[in-house]
Amino acid sequence: MDFEIKKIAGGIGIEVLNLDLDEDISPATQKHLYDAWIDSGIVVFKNMGKSIEHQIKLSRCFGELDIHPVKNLVTNNRHPELMVLESTAQAQLSIYYRDSKPDHAFVGFIPWHSDLVFTSNPNHGAMLRAVETPSTGGETAWIDTIAAYDALTADMKERIEHLEVEYRFCTSLLDAKFGRDPGLKMRHKGERHFPSFPPVIHPLVWRHPVNGRKILNLSPLHLERITDMDESESTCLLDTLVAHVTNRQFSYIHAWQPDDMVLWDNWRTLHSALGYPLGDRRLVHRTTIGGDVQRGRIIAESPALPA
Ligand SMILES: [Fe+2]
Repeated sequence: MDFEIKKIAGGIGIEVLNLDLDEDISPATQKHLYDAWIDSGIVVFKNMGKSIEHQIKLSRCFGELDIHPVKNLVTNNRHPELMVLESTAQAQLSIYYRDSKPDHAFVGFIPWHSDLVFTSNPNHGAMLRAVETPSTGGETAWIDTIAAYDALTADMKERIEHLEVEYRFCTSLLDAKFGRDPGLKMRHKGERHFPSFPPVIHPLVWRHPVNGRKILNLSPLHLERITDMDESESTCLLDTLVAHVTNRQFSYIHAWQPDDMVLWDNWRTLHSALGYPLGDRRLVHRTTIGGDVQRGRIIAESPALPA
């Protein structure tokens, strides 16, 4: 094998070592990398992403690259599959502070979510590459929702086995119904032009299409309700499950150095951008790995009544 694998302390995710991205990646190495990704969900490549070409070459080992449908941020003209996450643009979108530290404005914060969970077929994965890092903060955190499912009690597993949840696209982080930090405030909200997404219904417990393991399909940012359940019971159960999945026992937090790359399996993980001080410079490139697997179904809009 053309690389080594090291487990990350805490048991969530792995690190790949000694992979030379200046060389071609052989089909055998590509297969080993893909299997390691499917097996672990979160793969760290420290100090290996020296260029856009390195990132794109490595990303293509895991599937076709998608162009993200939410184009509120900038893409790279020469590489449309590359999303550019840059501090100046992020500061024009949303600036946050916490009640406990009103003078510490920060940007680039995104609470726990899985990408495109508000659609019927979310992308399979994504990879971030740090180009420039802020003086402090800017970490990204991931949760393994297979580990979170495995840790549920047998009673809870039985209770949620056949439940379904509704997800809705949430245009403001402060509108999230679940998992919200009550001390989080927004100082500035810029204009965004999002496409519209109809609500979708997903299974709450889902089997990973490749490895067959059960996933707790719970993405707090876009979570609306459990279908066919009394609202107070639904809220109570979802609060319990959100507290379980986000209790940090199942998480890995990456403190970025330039040229680090982290790949995740979006079908079985949540992630959160922890934010960094307003005024700090940060530049991250992202690729998105597609995957045409149906997980949910769109809730049909009611037909318009005849005039
Ligand atoms: Fe995301």
